[in-house]
Amino acid sequence: MAKARSQFICQNCGAVSTRWAGRCDSCGEWNTLVEENTGSGIGATPAARALKKGTPVQLVPLSGEIEEAPRVATQIAEFDRVTGGGFVRGSAVLLGGDPGIGKSTLLMQAAAALAKAGHPVIYVSGEEAVAQIRLRARRLDAVEPQVGLAAETSVENIIATLETGPPPALVIVDSIQTMWTDIAESAPGTVTQVRASAQALIRYAKKTGASVVLVGHVTKEGQIAGPRVVEHMVDAVLYFEGEGGHHFRILRTVKNRFGPTDEIGVFEMSDAGLREVANPSELFLGERNVSAPGAAVFAGMEGTRPVLVEIQALVAQSTLATPRRAVVGWDSARLSMVLAVLEAHCGVRLGGHDVYLNVAGGYRIAEPAADIAVAAALVSSLSGKALGADRAFFGEVSLSGAARPVAHAGQRLKEAEKLGFARAMVPKGCLDGQKTGIAVSEFSDLAELVAAIAGGSD
Ligand code: TYD
Ligand code: MG
Repeated sequence: MAKARSQFICQNCGAVSTRWAGRCDSCGEWNTLVEENTGSGIGATPAARALKKGTPVQLVPLSGEIEEAPRVATQIAEFDRVTGGGFVRGSAVLLGGDPGIGKSTLLMQAAAALAKAGHPVIYVSGEEAVAQIRLRARRLDAVEPQVGLAAETSVENIIATLETGPPPALVIVDSIQTMWTDIAESAPGTVTQVRASAQALIRYAKKTGASVVLVGHVTKEGQIAGPRVVEHMVDAVLYFEGEGGHHFRILRTVKNRFGPTDEIGVFEMSDAGLREVANPSELFLGERNVSAPGAAVFAGMEGTRPVLVEIQALVAQSTLATPRRAVVGWDSARLSMVLAVLEAHCGVRLGGHDVYLNVAGGYRIAEPAADIAVAAALVSSLSGKALGADRAFFGEVSLSGAARPVAHAGQRLKEAEKLGFARAMVPKGCLDGQKTGIAVSEFSDLAELVAAIAGGSD
């Protein structure tokens, strides 16, 4: 008989090692290796399972008939946009996010919306008692008799419960870290337990055609502790994020086997739960001081949707030997690059200045297309010349100082026009002969932009 062997599994990244170490070799985290017995069950090594001869499976041609994946839409437009049109039947979705960001709130609202449209939903919470969930539902005005509620943490009990009736349209499991199964021997919350529990629930989804949403809490480092390993098993991974002190929340797709991965849904947390924000640009541009130098409006894209945000820069004489560089909402390495290009190719001396950069509203920009807007904000702050309230920027900067065109110029300009912007400065080659309703000035070098701003030649 195979002897039960123990392994040490990193609780952060799921790497397996045969001996304990203070630091995981794979991800470099400290104190994350935990001994887990994997002699049997899902986490078992193949050698520990009984050897069995395989049966051949039927091969089919790739060119066969297909059906569009059947979906259940929540009718919450911002949610459905992110999933690509609703939950696909039989699929599993992981919803990750910081504790307290609003995952349970969002799912409770989605559950109520689905139930209202006649789709049965089951909500299983391993974190809150039934009375607590009912109280929340009442506060959210989401009391729907079609939503079945249970406070349970045993996966076997949950699946037995689900199998007593017809499969619901959606099963919500909040959260996967609190679930445990008899198949795995380790303690609840460990990687082996999380993986085995998720596997059992995903199997239920595939078998019955019900969609399953698993909630996963994220650690401070921004990774889903434990459920990191679940990311590979599910069909879609969504992250719910927001900045402390700001009310808005962004739902982002990280992986989606049935839809786009760069869409966002924007919500605002209010007393009565999450409210959809259909036009995020208005939210991010809401309280800007249009006449102050150092502020540039960036016309960005999130998936198929244009989003305008204000980038604020402050450049001040430094008293420190090594001037300070602080960035909120953008990549600091990217800022260093823009500063270096300004210094090397445009004669803008920033070596003796502290530089602070902030993206208004607590929003995070991931696109390199923000380079030009950042450069404009920096030059505007240094020269003390405001950029004008009616002007938007976008474009990438290369290390040679050239301004590089970016995609979706037409959509970016259209959004700017819709929000009352009259002018835009963009790299040459963006427009490709397209007509726009706003005055576009094109340039091919960052130095040209710097000269235009510092010279005040509006
Ligand atoms: P919750 O959905 O419990 O977060 P998670 O499941 O991600 O841990 O959200 C909890 C926070 O949301 C809590 O700080 C209170 C706030 N909140 C509101 O502001 N308004 C509301 O209507 C609700 C239900 C929660
Ligand atoms: Mg919760």
